[in-house]
Amino acid sequence: MSEVGISSDAIFTEQWAIYRKVIDCDYMSHVEIAGRLATEVAGCSPLRVLDLGCGDMEVTSKVFDGIPEVSLTGVDSSGMALSKAEDMIAKTSIRGMFIESDLLAYLKNEGPSFDLILAGFSLHHLQAGEKQEFFNACSKRLAESGRLLLFDCVRPPGLPRSVTLQRYLDWIESEWTEMSLREKEQIRHHIMTSDFPEENTHLLEMGKTAGFQTQEFLEEWDSGVHSLLSFTR
Ligand SMILES: C[S@@+](CC[C@H](N)C(=O)[O-])C[C@H]1O[C@@H](n2cnc3c(N)ncnc32)[C@H](O)[C@@H]1O
Repeated sequence: MSEVGISSDAIFTEQWAIYRKVIDCDYMSHVEIAGRLATEVAGCSPLRVLDLGCGDMEVTSKVFDGIPEVSLTGVDSSGMALSKAEDMIAKTSIRGMFIESDLLAYLKNEGPSFDLILAGFSLHHLQAGEKQEFFNACSKRLAESGRLLLFDCVRPPGLPRSVTLQRYLDWIESEWTEMSLREKEQIRHHIMTSDFPEENTHLLEMGKTAGFQTQEFLEEWDSGVHSLLSFTR
């Protein structure tokens, strides 16, 4: 129980309901991101996919459903998110496996190789040093010619974190019209305490430092606050 007497499950359930509403309203461009991911993976089969910070897998389950011989390993620190992901994957042709773990701890342990690693709106929760460790570990966990696809909140060039987050909150205030005042306050609290977005160029440099052969900016959405980057081993 938290100090105000609300169980962590109750807090998670409320926060997850808010994030589901954001996805359902498509405020973070999940529909277009899923479309672009589907284009990127078209024709790739068989495929061993690792989804880091997978949440309930609403988006990734759609991208891979119907592609033959896809095995999808979802890692998330939230057991409740994973149980929702398990329900989601059960409705698809995908073989799923679900691991409750910190994503960096999972990557740094010995384990299987993957053809594709996805990280969607999860990397920005890590600090800069941890992000470099993330790229290093992804490079080691990918099979030869394997690929990392990263879609996330990013920081515009040259802007400090405080200004970046304030701009993001201003954008939410004007565009996310279906969210209630209470929901927006919870989102604001989450962003101010947990979001550490990096510039695209810094993420691409981290990939290079980790030894990826190619580092590529693919597309951006929502006036550049959300990006898709690709790294090939
Ligand atoms: C904003 S949601 C993104 C969910 C989904 N990937 C998507 O694209 O919509 C972030 C997810 O990352 C998980 N997460 C955040 N930090 C994590 C960490 N260090 N290790 C594992 N999971 C983490 C959260 O529990 C949550 O499910």
